[in-house]
Amino acid sequence: MSKALEVIVLAAGEGKRMNSRLPKVLQPVGGRPMLAHLFDAVAGLQPARVHCVIGSGSEQVRQAFEDRDIQWVEQHERLGTGHATIQAMPGIDSGSRVLVLPGDTPLVETRTLSLVATEGADLSILEFRPSDVTGYGRILRDEDGRVVGIREEKDASESERAIGEANSGILSARADLLAGWLERLDNDNAQGEYYLTDCIRLAAESGASVQAHLADDPEQLLGANNRRQLAVLEQAFQARATGRLLDAGVTLADPSSVVLRGSVETGRDVFVDRNVALQGQVRLGDEVTLGIGCVIVDCDLAAGTRVHPYSVLEGVRTTGACQIGPFARLRPGSELAEGSRIGNFVEMKNTRLGPGAKANHLTYLGDAEIGPGANIGAGTITCNYDGANKHTTRIGADAFIGSNSALVAPVKIGEKATIGAGSVITQAAPAGELTLARARQKTLEGWSRPVRKPPRD
Ligand code: UD1
Ligand code: CA
Repeated sequence: MSKALEVIVLAAGEGKRMNSRLPKVLQPVGGRPMLAHLFDAVAGLQPARVHCVIGSGSEQVRQAFEDRDIQWVEQHERLGTGHATIQAMPGIDSGSRVLVLPGDTPLVETRTLSLVATEGADLSILEFRPSDVTGYGRILRDEDGRVVGIREEKDASESERAIGEANSGILSARADLLAGWLERLDNDNAQGEYYLTDCIRLAAESGASVQAHLADDPEQLLGANNRRQLAVLEQAFQARATGRLLDAGVTLADPSSVVLRGSVETGRDVFVDRNVALQGQVRLGDEVTLGIGCVIVDCDLAAGTRVHPYSVLEGVRTTGACQIGPFARLRPGSELAEGSRIGNFVEMKNTRLGPGAKANHLTYLGDAEIGPGANIGAGTITCNYDGANKHTTRIGADAFIGSNSALVAPVKIGEKATIGAGSVITQAAPAGELTLARARQKTLEGWSRPVRKPPRD
């Protein structure tokens, strides 16, 4: 029977080199904390338990993952990766296999982890050959090519630094053996720390079997110790995420300019123009098009929806093909039906726009229900806020709101009602009638313009 898998994620480091108040493992990649990516990759292995060692900013880290089933372990002093691992061992079943990984390697995927997570040697390590090996531990081998240890860069001789095989920091081992090696660690090294990586030498010396798996995709194992490395990771993440969209059948006018910070589900033949940002949970139905410079956050856009350039949408749902923008700002609770149209400089919030309804120019629609086919003229404002509470505006089907009208909520405009331009509507406007609420126009006959007085002197 195969052994249960237990995972230890090392996340107690403060990440001094980040120069930040945020704990390192909460630094975002693709809009989510590094640790979130790791937890997702680990979950794919279906481990028995996930232990996470925390220290710096531990409360903040815990809170960020409240909804996950994680065994949190405190490391009160930062004495090194070996010391951190030791803190988690009391919670580990000695009959299990343990996978240990650093919290700052967010691009690693489940299939790469499974190279080392599966049973095999007493100790398995994951190595890679990065284009720049600086900062990583180097894999030491004997004349026969057997792995005999890992040398941290700060302890390495010049010839050891020339080694291109780098330690990913990810290893797996039999729990009982690992516990024994950890007990024998010392901190006699350049950093005065208990290195987890010294377990490799201890394992080799004890005659245990040690295997190094070379990852075929080195980018997945890049670590982030500082903001330069974080920026490299971000780029790599973006390239991977946009690559997946292309594979899914999305056209990206310029993949390198698209920003992805969340999860995106797409239908067929979606078109995304340059400089578009997609954040949170985004769903784009078949043939949705997003114009240049759009920002789309937590939106569900039905097939055929067209968003024109420089529109910002958050928490928007469209239920049929409709048109939005350019320069529209749609806030949470906006819902647009088939054939509806929102034009330039229109803001919308908590408002439902019925099928075929239109608001084409310079309008604010807040807390409103707008019936099918209604036409909202330029400059219309729903006055939804009285300074204390929000109120609803209801506009019936095929109503016509003249330009520059203020609809003071709560208020109801009947079906097919017409509101004269420039009206301030404070009471219900009956269906089918023309309602005007503005000063009547008059002409003063024979009035003449004042003339400038001649200068005195
Ligand atoms: C580590 C490895 C190095 C490897 C590299 C891969 C050691 C000694 N070195 O170096 O061989 O090439 O990762 O990215 O293991 N942590 C704790 N408590 C501590 C110290 C660290 O929890 O006392 C955590 C950190 O939060 C981090 C992880 O362990 O998530 C790795 O520590 P870090 O300082 O980043 O190690 P590296 O110098 O990158
Ligand atoms: Ca690191």
